Amino acid sequence: MELARANAMKIIMALTIVAVSLCLLIIPISVEPDRSQDIKLFEAYVTEYKKPYKFNRTEYERRFERFQRSLRKIDALNGLRMSEHSARYGVTEYSDMTEQEFLALNLHPDLPAHSERHHQCHYHHIHSAKRSRRASLILPMKHDWREKGVVTAIKSQGNCGACWAFSVVEVAESMFAISNKTLSALSIQEMIDCAGNNNFGCEGGDICSLLEWLVISKTRILPEANYPLTRITNVCKLQKKNVESQVGIQVSDFTCDNFVNAEEELLKELVTKGPVAAAVNALSWQNYLGGIIQFHCDGSFANLNHAVQIVGYDKTAEIPYYIVRNSWGSSFGDKGYLYIAIGNNLCGNNFIYITSSYIYLM
Ligand SMILES: *[C@@H]1O[C@H](CO)[C@@H](O)[C@H](O)[C@H]1NC(C)=O
Ligand SMILES: *[C@@H]1O[C@H](CO)[C@@H](O)[C@H](O)[C@H]1NC(C)=O
Repeated sequence: MELARANAMKIIMALTIVAVSLCLLIIPISVEPDRSQDIKLFEAYVTEYKKPYKFNRTEYERRFERFQRSLRKIDALNGLRMSEHSARYGVTEYSDMTEQEFLALNLHPDLPAHSERHHQCHYHHIHSAKRSRRASLILPMKHDWREKGVVTAIKSQGNCGACWAFSVVEVAESMFAISNKTLSALSIQEMIDCAGNNNFGCEGGDICSLLEWLVISKTRILPEANYPLTRITNVCKLQKKNVESQVGIQVSDFTCDNFVNAEEELLKELVTKGPVAAAVNALSWQNYLGGIIQFHCDGSFANLNHAVQIVGYDKTAEIPYYIVRNSWGSSFGDKGYLYIAIGNNLCGNNFIYITSSYIYLM
């Protein structure tokens, strides 16, 4: 009975949304996409983002087609907005790419071909059995590690598909800051150049296998200044001889866990331990501008293609959300951050790795 009523409500809501959208459509926008309007938008776009193909006719046409496709996707996604807080979509520096190009540019790491690696580390470290026995804890309604001064500035991975290194090193920076009250940037380039265990520099890697490598090899993550970021895979410059005396932090332990239908547990880890690294599906972030993502972000295992860091949450908001730190520079989303709704396993919140118990040797 309840279910039937709920379904009826959903249908009524859907009809209302359709009606409202139609109302909005009639006046300002014609239903047929207007090519001359698209051309104007594209001209402005090419200038604003200083695209190198401005004077290359062939390339210009190719990019225009992709741009038009993005415009239609943007309209469709914005059509799903239910509140002023819902995610907003519009043109970004990635709007002149196909989804495949976008995937290849930013999201190498966890493409389906690599997914076996997830399986491996997933089974090694899963701790779900403990979960049910954990003492219950009253969680704050919101929590933001940025306010505690333990999160470094937003970074940019550029054309280097090393999101796996960015998210893990950023978690390490935060964990060190939480325990030692000193926040300092650590070397991502060291991970790109040196990490073994099925990590391939700018060609991709995996957050869990990177942590496994760090623990087993006892490699210290050096300060950023000692091994600066170049975003190009190069030979490892670590000195094998005096590893023990090198300044840096050493990861002693970590946990990989799966939070499908257990997001309260994830919030608990986030509050009691620190920021977490997460494997996600970022395909729909191509044209993301801000607001809370509630739809079109399927987080199923086979679709994980990116890694980020979750630094907090807010349950006092109309749409409760996670605060997610990305590595696409500070012009992406909301000053480099994005927001994802809590509670529907969205974007792959179903597959999160917690790092904990570091040994600090800075
Ligand atoms: C124009 O772009 C195409 C790729 O679409 C490229 O092959 C060609 O070399 C470019 N021409 C010039 C003059 O840069
Ligand atoms: C913590 O930071 C202080 C400087 O604020 C430093 O002297 C100390 O060695 C650090 N502790 C560890 C364990 O790295």
